[in-house]
Amino acid sequence: MIKPFTSKISTPDGRLTPHHNHIQRTLSTMKGQYADQPAYQAMLAQGDQLIYEVYENRLAEIPGELQHGTSIVHPGKVGNEYFMTKGHFHNVLETAEVYYCLQGVGYMMMETPEGEWAAEELAPGVVLYVPPRWAHRSINVGRQDLVTFFIYPGDAGHDYGTIETRGFRKIIVEQDGQPLVMDNPAWLE
Ligand code: 6PG
Ligand code: NI
Repeated sequence: MIKPFTSKISTPDGRLTPHHNHIQRTLSTMKGQYADQPAYQAMLAQGDQLIYEVYENRLAEIPGELQHGTSIVHPGKVGNEYFMTKGHFHNVLETAEVYYCLQGVGYMMMETPEGEWAAEELAPGVVLYVPPRWAHRSINVGRQDLVTFFIYPGDAGHDYGTIETRGFRKIIVEQDGQPLVMDNPAWLE
């Protein structure tokens, strides 16, 4: 049986100390996720840039335990589309998640298998509830790192396949210096 433990979140880097696991996602791991493929290829040719990181405290994947950690999306764009996470449904679809934003500005793009979608704004102090059945993707629309603390059920798991295949119905691009939510031209029915 595990004993109580603490970890600390530092800003502005969003690092969790100590942590069990540190994930670094680079541009090459997001093949096909950005709408402007020529811009993606041109950017990748310049180097495999780091897009986002996750610090996790991994607990047993059983109901009753709570996975938690920090998610840091770095600022930037591929073409005019903002840097974002891969996005996923939870393997156990009926599992929710809570996000708390510590730094930066962005959106959580979300959608259900039935086609409902939502884009909730993230800013320091914002607590977001992602209900069961909603896929979720963090999008950084600012100039600083977008840092969030997340917590979700131990057994939720991750289903990346659906999003990797179809994408999200909506994307967020920069237009006249402002974020604009628009239909994903590459979205597959
Ligand atoms: C989770 C959380 C969160 C998420 C990160 C990275 O279910 O683990 O939603 O930790 O994994 O924000 O996003 P991706 O998992 O979509 O790469
Ligand atoms: Ni999740």
